[in-house]
Amino acid sequence: MLRTILMASCLALASLPAAAGEFDTEDGFAVFEKLFGVTEGKRRNHTKGFCVEGVLSPVNAAIKDYSSSPLFTGQSTVIGRVSHKGGKANPADDKFGALGLAMEVTTADDDLHVIALNTEHFFPVATSEEFIELLRAKATSKDATKAFAAKHPALKVYSKYHGALDKTLKPYEGTTFNSVNAFYLVDEKDKKTAMRFSFRPSGEEGIVVDTNPDFFLENMQANIAKGSVSWDMVVTLANPSDAVADPSVQWTGDHKEIVAARFTVKKAMAENEGRCDALNFDPTVLTDGFAPSEDPMLEVRSMIYALGVGKRLSEKE
Ligand code: HEM
Repeated sequence: MLRTILMASCLALASLPAAAGEFDTEDGFAVFEKLFGVTEGKRRNHTKGFCVEGVLSPVNAAIKDYSSSPLFTGQSTVIGRVSHKGGKANPADDKFGALGLAMEVTTADDDLHVIALNTEHFFPVATSEEFIELLRAKATSKDATKAFAAKHPALKVYSKYHGALDKTLKPYEGTTFNSVNAFYLVDEKDKKTAMRFSFRPSGEEGIVVDTNPDFFLENMQANIAKGSVSWDMVVTLANPSDAVADPSVQWTGDHKEIVAARFTVKKAMAENEGRCDALNFDPTVLTDGFAPSEDPMLEVRSMIYALGVGKRLSEKE
């Protein structure tokens, strides 16, 4: 029931006039298509991926001091999607690249909670508008990208940091995914605590590096058969000096972390055999006990993903 309402509202949103607040959703979406091209019926970013299904279970009850979410009181079911970042139809699995993990979580009481993460530690620029400008520059020329970089020092910080990270090829299940944007935990008395969170692999996951550019699905299925695909949801509570509304600023230094839950994958299947393909992983769909932060990027993501799901489902008709 809730899922039907969510899908209906996404389709309704997708047919709204282009501009949402300051951000031109249609134009932003078109920039992805200009940069990557269009694979009809598929997502325009994180285009290649497959479905996963499993359960989310609470781990450390300390999280309940900060959030009244039903995610932390009982077991929930998950329909998820793992993906390669970018809008190319078929990037190779045997080359290191940025990845995504999205989850639609249904709690025991049938409440929905959506999570969409990627492998960035922080965002390349401060705002959605700058991000679209960056993609537009990339779609235009190397010189345009250089000119953009010269005016946006955050991009240099991002490139230096992410360029220095370990580039060893790992499967989805051996990879840590981050929220990048901040959210609030909300307790029973409506007290809000800012946080970011990650899904970290709970164990050492095997990988068979193959010459087959599509080995990630089989690799995960083999790891599930061994009973070993799971991620821990690690919540990082903000310190008072942390930037909450700017995803391009890294949170550095000591932070309180709570292992709030664990996502255990039971099944992985191709998109056309699973239930994730038609889902809209809108990161503002949250259970009570969570709230979006003031970061305006969350609202933009919500609008652009709604436009995306409307387009790609209509292309399948
Ligand atoms: C202004 C910032 C952003 C823009 C404009 C943007 C845009 C997009 C678009 C156009 C899609 C494809 C949607 C579709 O066609 O259904 C997408 C998918 C996705 N995005 Fe973003 N994105 C942004 C920020 C982020 C951030 C910060 C994260 C994670 C931390 C993220 C994670 C994802 C994931 C995981 C997917 C694929 C979800 C799935 O499997 O369906 N995005 N994004």
